[in-house]
Amino acid sequence: MTTLTVLPSGKSYEVAAGTTIMKALLAAGESIAQKCGGNASCGSCHIFVTEGRKSLPRIQKLENEKLDTLVGVGSKSRLACQAVLGDEPVTVELLSFV
Ligand code: FES
Repeated sequence: MTTLTVLPSGKSYEVAAGTTIMKALLAAGESIAQKCGGNASCGSCHIFVTEGRKSLPRIQKLENEKLDTLVGVGSKSRLACQAVLGDEPVTVELLSFV
């Protein structure tokens, strides 16, 4: 288990390691867009990972290619549907401009 903290609300959730951030957010009742159903093809689930980035698996080709097409992408950007939680606590910021 690990802890996922969601900004701007500041709410925290206990989540099983191996869960995508997307699934964890949806299970917690947080609002996150997922227009392609989690296939890394729409970019609507773009989030910023503000803490715990290094505990997430590296960005793979598919995710990287989609991030390259999005506006507002930075070093903290991930696609929630592709980022799998590990054992370390992670803080994410939900974005309103997507
Ligand atoms: S839900 Fe479409 S890229 Fe994540």
